[in-house]
Amino acid sequence: MKGEFDEVAALMPDPFRILHREITGSTNDDLRELAIAGMAEGLVLIAEKQTAGRGRRGAVWFSPVGENLAFSVLLRPSAPKALWGRLSLIAGLAVAEAAEKSLPIAGIKWPNDVQVDGKKIAGILVEAGSDFVVVGVGVNVNSRNFPEGLDATSLGVEAGYEISRSAFLLDFVNRFSHHSGRLENSFDDVLRGVSQRCVLTGKRVSLFLTGGTRREGRVRGLGPRGELLLEAETGVQALFQADEIRLLD
Ligand code: BTN
Repeated sequence: MKGEFDEVAALMPDPFRILHREITGSTNDDLRELAIAGMAEGLVLIAEKQTAGRGRRGAVWFSPVGENLAFSVLLRPSAPKALWGRLSLIAGLAVAEAAEKSLPIAGIKWPNDVQVDGKKIAGILVEAGSDFVVVGVGVNVNSRNFPEGLDATSLGVEAGYEISRSAFLLDFVNRFSHHSGRLENSFDDVLRGVSQRCVLTGKRVSLFLTGGTRREGRVRGLGPRGELLLEAETGVQALFQADEIRLLD
């Protein structure tokens, strides 16, 4: 029987190619193993079911079989490792733009969520090895039911019709391929797209940093390296990562 992703597999831009698994632990973990074993960059590993799908901070990533997309992309960037964290914004922008084929606008909640009207439609988990980076992406494409307590929605629910998973994936990969070429040079172009969609700009937030430190202030926008500019009592601070961000107004 012809697979759902066979047609788009033939249309992937170089060097991207698809590997589809029915069930695995976590596509991020699988790609890490493959990368350590020498796999070339560009592999896009999709799983229908993940038994250990992970979000950031060790959260479980919920994704019912056949409805959504859970995949990881392997890259071996030539840009300095210090810049690899930008891939989270790059992947977020590619998801948001692909979502906008069916929706008027998708918001980016810096640094790694894509939202519609404050509800999450996608999350990104970037994990680096010594000479590779794995970009894990979970997109709620057509799910209708979400675990209690999750402020989530799907593209299909918001658009009001079923979205083709394979067409979304191809669109994402094309955009991701384009934007990831701007990791070092022309990152400004990426920043412009992210800034236009940044749902935090102008908002008062409470922000938890790794290690448990909390910061509170108003978000002024993004700096030239993709950092969040937070105006606090002590002045404007540049933050390069955050574990959790809560909107206060
Ligand atoms: C987050 O929102 O916290 C990030 C979610 C990332 C989920 C994706 S699904 C594919 C890939 N494999 C994983 O185990 N996690 C990522």
